[in-house]
Amino acid sequence: MQLRDRVVLVTGASTGIGRAIASQSAARGAHVLVHGRDHNRTHRVAAEIGGFPLVGDLSRSEDLTRLRTAALDRFGRVDVLVNNAGVGWAGPLTSMTPAQLRQVIEVDLLAALELSRALLPAMVARGEGAICFVSSIAGRTGVAGEAVYSAAKAGIDMFAESLRAETTGTGVHVGVVVPGVVRTGFFDTRGRPYTRSRPRPVPPDDVAAAVLRTVTTGRAEAWVPGWLRIAPAVRALAPGPYRWLSTRFGEQVRVEPEPTSTDSDAS
Ligand SMILES: NC(=O)c1ccc[n+]([C@@H]2O[C@H](COP(=O)([O-])OP(=O)(O)OC[C@H]3O[C@@H](n4cnc5c(N)ncnc54)[C@H](OP(=O)(O)O)[C@@H]3O)[C@@H](O)[C@H]2O)c1
Repeated sequence: MQLRDRVVLVTGASTGIGRAIASQSAARGAHVLVHGRDHNRTHRVAAEIGGFPLVGDLSRSEDLTRLRTAALDRFGRVDVLVNNAGVGWAGPLTSMTPAQLRQVIEVDLLAALELSRALLPAMVARGEGAICFVSSIAGRTGVAGEAVYSAAKAGIDMFAESLRAETTGTGVHVGVVVPGVVRTGFFDTRGRPYTRSRPRPVPPDDVAAAVLRTVTTGRAEAWVPGWLRIAPAVRALAPGPYRWLSTRFGEQVRVEPEPTSTDSDAS
C-alpha cells in the first residue's frame, strides 16, 4: 500500500515515536490524523505536519468512542491505523497501585484492541487497509520491573498474530514493529530514566521508518534494531541459560514482601 492520499491515524503522535510516524507519513503525502492526550502538543504537531489533531485519553472509553467518530467524521475513512500510544511503568509489581496497573493495560493493550475492532470492518468492506502495532522487546522477553508493561506488549503481539491470520485474503494487512530502546521521553514519563549504556537508544525516526515499511510492503514484523530478534530466539532455544543470564545481567528489580504503595480501587 502506498501512502499518498491515504488516511493514516497515528495514536500517541503528540511526541516521540508517534510524532515521527505522523511526520514521515505526511511527508509521503498521507492525510494524517494526529492523536495525542496533551491538547497543546497534539495541536502543535498537527500544525507542523499539516495534519488533523485528535485529542483524547485512551484509558477512557468515552474518549475512545469520540476518537473513532472524529476520525471518521474528518475523512470518512481510516486506511491505516497505527496503534502506537503507550505508557510505561517501572518498578517492582508490589509498588504498583491498582490504578497504575489498569492504566498500563488500558492504554497499551485495551485501547489498541478496541480501536482495531472499531476500524477493521470498514477496511474489510473496502478490501484494503493496514493496522500496525508498536510493540516492544519487553513483550517478547519479559523484563524485571516491567511485568505489567511486558504483559501488555505480549498481549499486543499475540493479538496481532491472531488478527493477521483472521484477515488473510481480505486485503487488510496487520504488522508489528518491535523496538528495543528508543530515544524519547518515554523513560522520564514512566518515572525511571534509562541509564544503561547498552543497548544504545535508537532515534524515533528509525522506528517510524520501520512502521512505514511494514505498512507499505506488507511485512508482518520489523525489529529496531534488527539484531534484537536474537534475544527471544535464544530464550526459546535455551530458556534455562537465558533466564540465568537475564537474572544476572538484566534489570535488578525485585518484589518486596509488603506493598510499598496502595490506592483504593475507585481511584
Ligand atoms: N521509547 C522506547 O524505548 C520504547 C521502546 C519500545 C516500545 N516503545 C513503545 O513505543 C510507543 C511510543 O512510545 P514513545 O517512546 O514515543 O513514548 P512517549 O514519547 O512517552 O510518547 C507516548 C505517546 O503516547 C501518548 N499517551 C500516553 N498515555 C496516553 C493516554 N492515556 N491516552 C492517550 N495517549 C497517551 C502520549 O500522549 P501525550 O504526550 O499527549 O500525553 C504520547 O503521544 C509506546 O507504545 C511504547 O510502549 C517505546
